[in-house]
Amino acid sequence: MGDTTKRKSGRSDDPFDGEGGKSAKKSKKEKKEKKTREKRSDDESEDKSNHKSFPAASSGKTETPPPTTTKKRAFRLRLKGIAPNTDKAQVAQFLLVSESCVRNVFHGEAIVMVDTEEAFQRCVEKDDEKLNGRFVKVTDETNGARSNLGRNFLTPGNNGENNAEVKRKTTTNEREGRDWTCEKCGGENFARRETCYKCAAGKYGEQRETPPVMKTSASINTAVVKKQNNAGDRMVAQGSEQEGYEVFVKYLPKNVDESDIADFFKRCGELKEEVNLLRDQTTGSSKGAGFLTFRNAESREKALAMDGERFLDRTVSVTVAKKSPFGTRGTTQALGTHTPAMLRETIDSLGIANDPNGIYIDGTFGRGGHTRGILNALGKNGQLHAFDLDPEAITVGRALEKEDSRFHMHHSPFGSMFKVMREKDSKVKVSGVFLDLGISSPQFDDKSRGFRPEQDGPLDLRFDVTSGVSAYDFLLKVSRNDLRDIIFKYGETNDKLSAQRIADAIVLARDTNALPKTTKAFATLVANAKGAEYQAMHPAKMTFQALRIHLNEEFDEFRRGMEGAMKLLKENGKLGVLTWKHSECAILIEYFRKVEKVRTNAPIFEWLKTNHEKSVTKLLEKDDDDDDAWAAEMDDCKRPADIEMRTNSRSRSAILHVLRKKSSAARMVEAEKAAYKKLKWENKK
Ligand SMILES: C[S@@+](CC[C@H](N)C(=O)[O-])C[C@H]1O[C@@H](n2cnc3c(N)ncnc32)[C@H](O)[C@@H]1O
Repeated sequence: MGDTTKRKSGRSDDPFDGEGGKSAKKSKKEKKEKKTREKRSDDESEDKSNHKSFPAASSGKTETPPPTTTKKRAFRLRLKGIAPNTDKAQVAQFLLVSESCVRNVFHGEAIVMVDTEEAFQRCVEKDDEKLNGRFVKVTDETNGARSNLGRNFLTPGNNGENNAEVKRKTTTNEREGRDWTCEKCGGENFARRETCYKCAAGKYGEQRETPPVMKTSASINTAVVKKQNNAGDRMVAQGSEQEGYEVFVKYLPKNVDESDIADFFKRCGELKEEVNLLRDQTTGSSKGAGFLTFRNAESREKALAMDGERFLDRTVSVTVAKKSPFGTRGTTQALGTHTPAMLRETIDSLGIANDPNGIYIDGTFGRGGHTRGILNALGKNGQLHAFDLDPEAITVGRALEKEDSRFHMHHSPFGSMFKVMREKDSKVKVSGVFLDLGISSPQFDDKSRGFRPEQDGPLDLRFDVTSGVSAYDFLLKVSRNDLRDIIFKYGETNDKLSAQRIADAIVLARDTNALPKTTKAFATLVANAKGAEYQAMHPAKMTFQALRIHLNEEFDEFRRGMEGAMKLLKENGKLGVLTWKHSECAILIEYFRKVEKVRTNAPIFEWLKTNHEKSVTKLLEKDDDDDDAWAAEMDDCKRPADIEMRTNSRSRSAILHVLRKKSSAARMVEAEKAAYKKLKWENKK
């Protein structure tokens, strides 16, 4: 081959040809050159033998071997680790080749084709040098095209007819267990992966199909699961018209929120769901990553093409979101943690952005998930008061009080919020109140609290273990009929007989000194009393729930809490309530009906207005100073977005209701009362 570095380029249109030798860095460069020359001559002899033994794909004829030495031929190089936003011109300038040689700059890589050995040499010398602040890796792919990024271009001895050979070599490489390059997006993958980590296309080019969602664990195709023996491989690209097309975005700037992200990706097309930005469960602050679900595959492709773009001060990564063969992504809910449900929706619906320096109340602190989200959204003069009964919650809250002077923790039931707040300031008005009903995940998962039939712990069931009586002590005294009614009323069942049988079994056990003191034994007693039936949950779950609701007076507390909250709210202040079960929803709606503001389209109001205008005028006349003359409007009522339900499975039963206070307003019930009087109707409650 001779010393190729001394040759001049035959191309007249290459402005940099012939200048590369000037920048030679002697010893390092010479070593590299020698190595490259040796490799080149090895490759060429290998080429020759290959060309001799393989027929050309299209003709089936034996190919003519390429000349052993040539001045003008195609060399293919791949540059890796290129800084985002580097363009072809910059790559060309870096390599000292013409811009036309740079065929593709894509996902931090570039494909470069040069046709002289001098140019090739200059490119190779740039290996491990810095371009736009990043060390770039230059690899020679002349004899082994590994991806389709430059497949239209010639490789040595390949004039376009021997694609079969290139393909065959590539496949062999891959089957030999080497790392591989995705044909679809150019992503570099470890050999063990069967699908591209970036776009989820198959290793050998085919696009993996999303498997059908499997309904029960029994129907899981275990053969398929076994074959794919690593977690990455078991995950497949998410995407269908029904569920939308999702991407996973990371390295987002920390100070952007969901709407900024939606704006950034606006040009890709319509989103099917709200942006799901992953937030720290304790601080509520962004984790710099999230999911976006587009309406169609085309939009997702556009989003994927934004991989590596700058978003403020960061370079974002965009990849296809994956899901398990069972159709869902694993929940992010771990034991002992509490992911606040509908956090973003809660903060938005309370209207904190419009009134950041107002006073707010979180009536159910828990572990402070929503509290921290609210504090994050508050201005520096805003105030947040939180309530809880659980001593562990109080400990967490006290610690937070020390960190943030805007926060105040109260160890009191939220049903007493009016009293507690007015004791401090007799005129206080608040901008928003939030209640997240029921039990928190840490309480539920902590077996020492005895909330869960599957785990063994004391039969207690109190939120506040420092007051009241435990479930065991209660069961020692309660009458059989009262117990039956409690199980029936709060167990959300129509099955009166099963409530009766459970109560009988408990009383029988008590009267024979065999009442279990621990949850598991108690759960077995209840399950045995209940007998066989289809059960999607533990047979004792609803009995535990019923006892818990009764012991903690949950429903009465809820009613007191709503009343206290509405009285404390200022005009247009909001009460947000997260309910988790039908019975809580029913209580909220029952309460709302009683305080609902007159709706002008309500038929009875229209009738009254048409026929008794004076009564309506009187009804609507309210004294501005009358603190009790208020009503409520239903501002919003929504469920978690699909994406939240997939990432936090416990959120699936949540409903966020938002009531807005209207001061000096008449209520529907007042209009009805006036109308009934005129109609001479009975007004039985
Ligand atoms: C669903 S958790 C709230 C979780 C919280 N939003 C969070 O993100 O961490 C409900 C909390 O309300 C508390 N709680 C229940 N009833 C209460 C009441 N009447 N007064 C005050 N707190 C109560 C429970 O102890 C529990 O910690």
